[in-house]
Amino acid sequence: MNQYLHQGQTVQAMRLDNGIAELCFDRDSEAINKLDRLALAELRAALAAIAAAPGLRGVLVTSAKEVFIAGADITEFGALFKRPEADMLAHFRNGNDVLCGLEQLAVPVVAAINGFALGGGLELALCCDYRVMAASAQVGLPEVGLGLFPGLGGTVRLPRIAGLDVAIEWIAGGKPSRADAALRAGVVDQVAAPDQLRAAALALLEHAATHAPEWQAKRAARQAPMALSAAAAREVFQQARARIAKASPKHQPAAMMALAAMEDNWPLARDAALDVEVRQFTRVAKTQAAASLVQAFLSEQAVKKLCRAHARADGARTVKAAAVLGAGIMGGGIAFASALKGVPARMKDIAQGQLDLGCGEADKLLARQVRLGRLAQDKADAVRRGIVAQLDYAGFGQVDLVVEAVVENIKVKHAVLAELESRIADDAIIATNTSSLRIDDLAVPLARPHNFVGMHFFNPVPVMPLVEIVKGEKTSMAAVSTAVGYAVAMGKTPIVVKDCPGFLVNRILIANNRAFSQLVADGADFEQVDRAMEDFGWPMGPAYLMDVVGMDTGSHVSNVIAAGYPERMTRSWDDVLELMVEQKRFGQKTGIGFYRYEADPAGKPVKHHAADSHALIARVQPNGRRAFTDQEIVERLMLPMVIEAAIALEEGVVATPAELDMALLLGIGFPRHAGGILKYADWLGMEHVLALSDKYAHLGPPYVATAGMRRMAAQGTGFYAD
Ligand SMILES: NC(=O)c1ccc[n+]([C@@H]2O[C@H](COP(=O)([O-])OP(=O)(O)OC[C@H]3O[C@@H](n4cnc5c(N)ncnc54)[C@H](O)[C@@H]3O)[C@@H](O)[C@H]2O)c1
Repeated sequence: MNQYLHQGQTVQAMRLDNGIAELCFDRDSEAINKLDRLALAELRAALAAIAAAPGLRGVLVTSAKEVFIAGADITEFGALFKRPEADMLAHFRNGNDVLCGLEQLAVPVVAAINGFALGGGLELALCCDYRVMAASAQVGLPEVGLGLFPGLGGTVRLPRIAGLDVAIEWIAGGKPSRADAALRAGVVDQVAAPDQLRAAALALLEHAATHAPEWQAKRAARQAPMALSAAAAREVFQQARARIAKASPKHQPAAMMALAAMEDNWPLARDAALDVEVRQFTRVAKTQAAASLVQAFLSEQAVKKLCRAHARADGARTVKAAAVLGAGIMGGGIAFASALKGVPARMKDIAQGQLDLGCGEADKLLARQVRLGRLAQDKADAVRRGIVAQLDYAGFGQVDLVVEAVVENIKVKHAVLAELESRIADDAIIATNTSSLRIDDLAVPLARPHNFVGMHFFNPVPVMPLVEIVKGEKTSMAAVSTAVGYAVAMGKTPIVVKDCPGFLVNRILIANNRAFSQLVADGADFEQVDRAMEDFGWPMGPAYLMDVVGMDTGSHVSNVIAAGYPERMTRSWDDVLELMVEQKRFGQKTGIGFYRYEADPAGKPVKHHAADSHALIARVQPNGRRAFTDQEIVERLMLPMVIEAAIALEEGVVATPAELDMALLLGIGFPRHAGGILKYADWLGMEHVLALSDKYAHLGPPYVATAGMRRMAAQGTGFYAD
């Protein structure tokens, strides 16, 4: 019979037959194991009990969950990383101390990795003398995705176990590996079928117990400096540095900092090497990227939880069959994305040519998926059959939800929506994809406005993950929940917002767009503005963005949305965008806008300097050109976004800062290292933001901080709780 050596909420230790002890991770009342404070404290106690137990010959480390150990508890990071460096050092040294206790048991230790062993989970397994992995499991060190790197010995033990090249690739790349790859890389020692895992691990332990020199040699190698010449190491690091510099996203230094830690720690013995890692870890944890990416991860979890709640909500329906009205850029993309995820979509238009275009686009996208090996031909054929192009309403009576994506004209939309409502079931949902009209205004001719909701997709639909779900005054929660569920089924991330001009994302983007126009009118060089914003981390600067969107569309949408906020968004200067529209310089679509475009051999437009742009723009610069620093440019373009976001939050357009920032990250490519506009403001500190507001208040209401922001500054808080 098993005899317990330690019984905790997270860790159990028991004596099996034959002098073997089992250390089992089994987190009470949770689906996964994680390496949080409680787990580490219990592990320390369990190890002490094992070390004190007489007559042991080996220790088997297991998990009773589907995962082995999913990693650290990321919800602990926000508060922890704000603590003084000395506290953080103490925290991680404690973690290392516990794991070294596992590594130093007097008997051999084998980990049986049954499921995900990620981050701290793999670092714990690396302290064992052998790792046996289930063929279905995955292991990895994904910390760079959180702006971090392994801080519990990963940069010390992985190079010593699998070599520098593997360690650099795994740590800087952050991708989890399947069992065969982990075995090839030398990160694990054996792979077993899941139902054979325990037996295989016990057999290996039995072998180890009778072949002490083997495991002792492995253990000694993990604790010694790496056996490597300085010249060889230098070469490896030099090459890796070049690779990582190229691959790292802007302002995300984690991979490079991990490399520096490994470069410093390879010639050292374990304890000194761990100390290098811990010190470097406290530095990376204090970077803006770490704070932002950790928050983005938590926000993503929070949004997923909200989606699950919508799925369970009263009246929420699963969309099994959908339809799209309008086979243009958006309608075609929506029908394709729906069918691709197994929800067939009828696609109606008034023009056969548009239907042909929409279907042609779907054919092209599917052929590409097949070519890239992402979709089998028979699956692609089934998806294609799911898109039914038609000029009439046949079958609309049987669909659960219709997305309206006809031209952005309220008269046309009113007529189309009223007719549509008479052709569908009484309980079917109509979702409009309007980008600038209000849901309440569009709902006017409808007899069942409670079944009417906004589903604002972003272009190109197959690529863009965000959908704003817009709740009008009369929209029922059942309609909102149904639309949320449909977006999730399409593989998208839905964020629920309240009806207002521009909804959430475009409203905040327009604040930036107006600020750009004002800055140019004040004499800024648009090319410098683009460079400064791209250096900040934006995928493209505001002038280039307008060229890509199309000046005619962009300027029109900007004006329509701005008209909804006359108190803040009325212009008192000549607008460079309108100048460009007057000149028919629409951007990429006309080959010229702020920049000039020429197609490359693949037909992709390539941006070039346009010789006459500056002379043209001088017409809207009454005081001529003047110099701005990059910092001024960033401040003038970011602050109105912070303020518009704060107002939207105060007005309840979106429920939480997490959802607001998530929408910006997914909808407009907000720089990930800054985590979204509210996280960015928190990073600057509310006092600093207010100082900026005071500095720029003379530019107008978009620069004037809200009363809520002033309250936060007075209380020393920010948008996020911790
Ligand atoms: N293009 C974008 O980037 C974008 C992004 C988000 C939302 N939107 C919104 O999506 C909607 C569609 O935009 P788009 O860019 O796809 O426009 P589009 O001009 O490419 O397509 C509109 C389609 O609607 C069709 N149509 C017009 N009247 C119709 C009717 N009575 N019945 C059926 N079809 C009809 C047209 O033939 C055309 O195929 C607009 O409300 C727009 O504001 C566009």
